[in-house]
Amino acid sequence: MSSRHGPRDSRLFTYVSIGLVAGVAAFVAQQSLAEGTPPPNVQKPLNVPVSPLFPNGGAAPPPPTQVKQYEGNPTYIAAGHAIFDHYNCSGCHFHGAGGMGPAFYNDGHFIYGGRLDQIYASIYQGRPNGMPSWAQIIPQQEIWEIAAYVKALSEPSQQSAAGSPLPLPTPAISGGNVENGAALITKNGCGSCHEIPGIHNATGTVGPPLTHIAGRAVIAGVMPNTPDNMTAWISNPQAIVPGNAMPNLGLKDNDVRDIATYLYTLR
Ligand code: HEC
Ligand code: HEC
Repeated sequence: MSSRHGPRDSRLFTYVSIGLVAGVAAFVAQQSLAEGTPPPNVQKPLNVPVSPLFPNGGAAPPPPTQVKQYEGNPTYIAAGHAIFDHYNCSGCHFHGAGGMGPAFYNDGHFIYGGRLDQIYASIYQGRPNGMPSWAQIIPQQEIWEIAAYVKALSEPSQQSAAGSPLPLPTPAISGGNVENGAALITKNGCGSCHEIPGIHNATGTVGPPLTHIAGRAVIAGVMPNTPDNMTAWISNPQAIVPGNAMPNLGLKDNDVRDIATYLYTLR
């Protein structure tokens, strides 16, 4: 019995072994591929916790010498500023003022840590809620420069070194009527959801306070604060952020213009 099955068993064993070896070889090949070339899912944010570990056995954890070299250095900060725009980080971070991605004018309050090496890691690795990994796209030295720039933006004392990349809005709406705007804000109950200076009983907390809205860089966290965007928001907030808690109030264009004119007095 065993003599009849013996050769087949050993052949089977051989096949299995070959299969195993091939499998291991393929796995090894894949691993080394992952080190040399971009993995197919490089755009997919990596689900990495804040940690000094790098994916794919890539670069070693950043040595503190780089932190010393890049942090607060005006030359690197300026270089980082230029590259930040070059790689269109602004597409999501609006020159640091925040948009789809978080703002960097954050007084050091980063979600994933505000040390220079942590900022570097966020850019290098990507972050799970929509921040792509740049490991395969931006050379490491440039990532350090961008990190130095981002860190400078986050520190009020260093923002002048970083340059103020986003001019504060100079909202001007022609022909709007401030008094009528205030009356319309009262009439339409904006104050049931918003705190609005100068409007009686406007102490709502459902929406963000509109205190200083004229000096805000971004509206509703998604678009630059320009008069056009402001009127678009007040006319039809559901078209801009579907499902958000601010209802479309069906306002006429003239009324929207007057309301926006009032809001732009709130500096
Ligand atoms: C496609 C949109 C997008 C692009 C492009 C993008 N980011 Fe982000 N970024 C995000 C989002 C969204 C987050 C928040 C991720 C999270 O919360 O997990 C983020 C997070 C970050 C963080 C961590 C912030 C914190 O508070 O810890 C840094 C640093 C950062 N991005 C820098 C950059 C830089 C530098 C670039 C350009 C090289 C860039 N981002 C390009 C969307 C983007
Ligand atoms: C039922 C509650 C509600 C009412 C009523 C309401 N809003 Fe809002 N509003 C919100 C919420 C919630 C947001 C935040 C939406 C978001 O960020 O996605 C918001 C955002 C805004 C913003 C952007 C604020 C910022 O910090 O970027 C402006 C401006 C604004 N509302 C103006 C108005 C005006 C003017 C009216 C009245 C015509 C009004 N809202 C009525 C709930 C309301």
